[in-house]
Amino acid sequence: MDKVAVISGASSGIGQEIAIELSKHGFKLLILGRNLERLEKTKSQLQSEAQCLTGDLSLDLSDAFKAQITGFLSSSSIEQAVLINNAGSVKRETFVKTEIKDWEHALNHNLYSALRLTQCFLPASKHIKSKQILNISSTLGIRPIEDTSAYSAAKAAMCNWTECLALELAPENIPVNCICPGLVETPIHPFFKTQDKAQRNELNGIQPLGRMGRVQDIAQSVRHFVEQKDLWITGVKLPVDGGILLKS
Ligand SMILES: NC(=O)c1ccc[n+]([C@@H]2O[C@H](COP(=O)([O-])OP(=O)(O)OC[C@H]3O[C@@H](n4cnc5c(N)ncnc54)[C@H](OP(=O)(O)O)[C@@H]3O)[C@@H](O)[C@H]2O)c1
Repeated sequence: MDKVAVISGASSGIGQEIAIELSKHGFKLLILGRNLERLEKTKSQLQSEAQCLTGDLSLDLSDAFKAQITGFLSSSSIEQAVLINNAGSVKRETFVKTEIKDWEHALNHNLYSALRLTQCFLPASKHIKSKQILNISSTLGIRPIEDTSAYSAAKAAMCNWTECLALELAPENIPVNCICPGLVETPIHPFFKTQDKAQRNELNGIQPLGRMGRVQDIAQSVRHFVEQKDLWITGVKLPVDGGILLKS
């Protein structure tokens, strides 16, 4: 019997590492992103079968896109299916300068993207016995920092929606949980590409555990959830953050 995972935002950063981690543990994967070249790069690092699917999740899903997901989940040999809603993007700006179109962008990329995918995943996986949904939110969805109104509100909404969906899907025995990363070194941050040692030391220095997060920290947490086929945890918001929430 097969276990499969659908992972959004798998062409970069955290999503790419989640794909690598789950492939090591035997999951067949459908990896999603907007950039095919980068998705293929992820695929080349995987140890299990994988299909790439490109599309912009900030827009309504096309019928062809939905058909690909449904097709991927259709096999009767699947015993476990996992959806990882990871795609997202961030822009820092003061509230006054955050225009309504910026709010729409933040909500579309960080919240509606997950809603769209989940609305496709649930009916398409109806026949599969063991299912789980994991949302990648942020510590900012629990405790925001300044100049992140739209992003933090979108991530907070994701946390709240996780709890609501967890209750709704509990009778079907489908756990829904949220992982809230702290500061993780990925291309989402402008500092990622710089060699600025002083800035890096400063960012490492403010973390209680002494360093910024690595993509592996998040991927391994995801694996702890999904390796349990009969998970008895639902509706949690788990900070994976080196302890930063304790300080703010
Ligand atoms: N890194 C951190 O410090 C941190 C902290 C807390 C939470 N997070 C969250 O973790 C998740 C992953 O972030 P990351 O740090 O790994 O960033 P990243 O390296 O920039 O990766 C973001 C991924 O999301 C995809 N994506 C973005 N918008 C999309 C859209 N409209 N449609 C489809 N795919 C889209 C990108 O795909 P393409 O490149 O193919 O367009 C890319 O694969 C995000 O939800 C982010 O908010 C990150």
